[in-house]
Amino acid sequence: MSEQFITDLLKQINYPGFSRDIVSFGLIQESRFENGQAFVKLEVSGSEPTFPKTLKDEIEKTLLENDKVEGVNVQIIVKKPTANTNAQGGGKEGAVLPEVKKIVAIASGKGGVGKSTMAVNLACAIERILTENSSSAKIGLMDCDVYGPSVPLLIGASGQPKAIGENQIEPVESYGIKVMSMGLLVDEETPVVWRGPMVMKTIQQFASNVEWGELDLLLIDLPPGTGDAQLSLAQTMPLDGVVIVTTPQKAAVDVARRGARMFEKVNVPILGVIENMSFLLNEENNEKSYLFGTGGGPNTAQALATSFLGEIPIHEEIRLGGDHGIPIVVSNPDHFASEAITSIAEEIITILG
Ligand SMILES: Nc1ncnc2c1ncn2[C@@H]1O[C@H](COP(=O)(O)OP(=O)(O)OP(=O)(O)O)[C@@H](O)[C@H]1O
Ligand SMILES: [Mg+2]
Repeated sequence: MSEQFITDLLKQINYPGFSRDIVSFGLIQESRFENGQAFVKLEVSGSEPTFPKTLKDEIEKTLLENDKVEGVNVQIIVKKPTANTNAQGGGKEGAVLPEVKKIVAIASGKGGVGKSTMAVNLACAIERILTENSSSAKIGLMDCDVYGPSVPLLIGASGQPKAIGENQIEPVESYGIKVMSMGLLVDEETPVVWRGPMVMKTIQQFASNVEWGELDLLLIDLPPGTGDAQLSLAQTMPLDGVVIVTTPQKAAVDVARRGARMFEKVNVPILGVIENMSFLLNEENNEKSYLFGTGGGPNTAQALATSFLGEIPIHEEIRLGGDHGIPIVVSNPDHFASEAITSIAEEIITILG
């Protein structure tokens, strides 16, 4: 009863910078209310130093606004961020994904801008570049779009991941890329409502219970916007950076910026901006038509004070590659669209060192 009273009040508080409340996000470990005194204990992770203070102030303010509450005691346990332990190449006890050198997410504000298409093509392009430069490279691709996983189709990954022992599963390999996705675990008929509450849990399991092994890079495909998946990811894994995908429209800038801001809040560096569907090339006279206008990519990069990584044309072969599960950089690496993607892949490798 007394706990419920406090919980209901805490539900009015959103996780700073997000539209989801701290209760439904599972941050509250303990709450009590006795003789006008509220006690709240919560656990957070994240690397922003001011964050626990902001949250504590917000909780105190909200609870004290209620007439029944006379005093508030907030205890915040900061789980030490695992951030950047990856950079040293691993082996650190307690670190998430210790054998993964770099973790980079692909994000956007708006849906359907080509994140997943970029994620699979970049994974294949980076794998090829690294393999050419050293003899081996291992790239992973984690699909954190729990509601609408599209990575398996786009990269032609199929089959059930193999179980190893009681708790671990193996990613499925396609074109040398290790892939894990909800799409490999449940069939397409499984209702979305069933998957809904599982976003956080799924992402944690993708980090802890998938046998990724040693990876040079783990790319992460996200659903659009700033929902549970983005927050869960930032809470679960030490991200080395995020790449923002946008389209050329003027209006795209604001949406892309909103999508990127949450990563800034949790101190994840924005590595750069890709503009997708930039132009249609008439291959007979080399003329470009800018169907969606111009400027979205460079303007977004400027607004976010990050690099503009380049533009990708609209081309039927990119879409067909996705439909057939053979990324264009694999089926036709010399195509001008593949060259555009490859040069962005090189840029990302350079940025990550
Ligand atoms: N440059 C391009 N040229 C032609 N088609 C493209 C291009 N980029 C993406 N597409 C097509 O657009 C559609 C949407 O792309 P994709 O699924 O990658 O977007 P998304 O941002 O991941 O979408 P969501 O927000 O739903 O996750 C797909 O059919 C894809 O094949
Ligand atoms: Mg997608």
